[in-house]
Amino acid sequence: MLANNYAEIIRGYMRDIANDNVKTINRIVILELGGGSGRFAYQLIRALLRLTDGLIPNSLPSFYYLMTDISKSIVNTWHNQPKLKQLIEKGILELAVLDVKSPQKAELVVSKKPLKTFINGNPVVVVANYVFSVYVDTFRVEDNKLHEIKVGVNVDDYLPELVGSKEVFRKIQFNQQQLPIILPYYKESIFNAILKEYKEELTASTFQFPVTTLRNLELLKKLSKGRLFLLISDMAESNINHLEGRDSLPMYLNGPFASYVNIDAFARWTNYKSGVVLIPTTPSRHFDTYAFVLGQGGECIETSLAFENCTGMCGSGARLASIRRASKQQEKPYTPCELIGLLHSSHLDLFLIKPLIGPLLTAAAIANRDERNALLAAIEKCWDNYYLLGANDDIDYDIGRVLMVLKEPEKALKFFFHSLENYGPHHSTLYRIGRCYEHLDDLINALSYHRRSLKQKHTTRAKKQVDRLIAALENESGDNHNALSKTIG
Ligand SMILES: C[S@@+](CC[C@H](N)C(=O)[O-])C[C@H]1O[C@@H](n2cnc3c(N)ncnc32)[C@H](O)[C@@H]1O
Repeated sequence: MLANNYAEIIRGYMRDIANDNVKTINRIVILELGGGSGRFAYQLIRALLRLTDGLIPNSLPSFYYLMTDISKSIVNTWHNQPKLKQLIEKGILELAVLDVKSPQKAELVVSKKPLKTFINGNPVVVVANYVFSVYVDTFRVEDNKLHEIKVGVNVDDYLPELVGSKEVFRKIQFNQQQLPIILPYYKESIFNAILKEYKEELTASTFQFPVTTLRNLELLKKLSKGRLFLLISDMAESNINHLEGRDSLPMYLNGPFASYVNIDAFARWTNYKSGVVLIPTTPSRHFDTYAFVLGQGGECIETSLAFENCTGMCGSGARLASIRRASKQQEKPYTPCELIGLLHSSHLDLFLIKPLIGPLLTAAAIANRDERNALLAAIEKCWDNYYLLGANDDIDYDIGRVLMVLKEPEKALKFFFHSLENYGPHHSTLYRIGRCYEHLDDLINALSYHRRSLKQKHTTRAKKQVDRLIAALENESGDNHNALSKTIG
């Protein structure tokens, strides 16, 4: 869902650029920082291609996606990922090892170009999800005075054994030293102006200032001839009320430590640069999306409209949470149509399948032909949108079950085999593979998988069922099997 929102907002930005009629701009560069698993990039690229391909030929700029992370091993994993390889071969995707502290040192993996040459003066869209809480300075305002905070870490004796586990973060304690400062503190006058505003507007608070990030955005802005569009999703403090009254460091434990991003500082910086700030009307500190447009004359009408449509009123975090909650809480069962609607309103988010598995199985069983086709298409699209990396809670098995009820045994088999490969030979996976083969009239394979199923751990009742099924399949007449098929789900 978030990737789809980004795609719509970026398309809005492309339209604003096209409306500006700057003939020299025929491409934008989307630069994702701290890409992590790569799943978001994959989904965003697909959504953006869907939204822009061939609709208004030649009028929108094209895009090049530069996916980056500080970790070399992550970038290597991307390079070997078949779905990403296809996008690299199409000339849409480039990969780089990049530290947000020094983007100019980025190492581009495919073209080997320096970042400056790669950007080549084109507008840059910076995508930064859960990555901008690094390299910040911390300050405290109290009694109308500004202090810098020097933060240290107390390490206990027993810590070394815990290194490598999440426990280590629970044991860490911070110490803080508060030193009064006078302005100007930075060499940049805008940064000092923002600190001065905080000194005057805050009563008592500890807050962070994203000094390194803002400096590097200045640098990227130069490489892009002034046109920079920043899209951030994170846990954030986005106005003075969020910042006010904090006594401790603005950090939280999320496995390791992370800090709330001071979005308010990005907004003030953008305002000083005469840019456009897009913040949801009711931003959620827990998670939300924020956008900042620089160097794009005028009001950025298309970008703003897309932002408001996707995330403006309640915020993307709240929207996704409400859809997920709706998938769990309902008094009456969903109709097949309602379920199809729910899946689509999440932009076909695969992670709805598991919480919705009960309703999906019921709906699949009662759906008419049109609804069956629509459910099938929605589920296949969910899977198609998904970029597999690591564990996925065996959603493959759940999809297989729904496809079986939709009377699609051949398609279901694909998912059960996927489950088998990734999650091992669970008796119910083997049993359901057997059932699919039965429906495909392949009794030899059906028997083989039912027998394999029996070798796994079973409840006594399930074991009896499979025993009976095998006996029926072995019965050459087949009559018995047909009767049993109706009784065993
Ligand atoms: C919390 S994950 C977020 C991943 C992804 N953006 C997402 O939202 O799922 C942070 C990512 O940023 C990367 N990272 C951490 N420090 C970084 C830095 N200084 N420069 C670039 N990437 C960094 C990490 O390797 C990790 O992949």
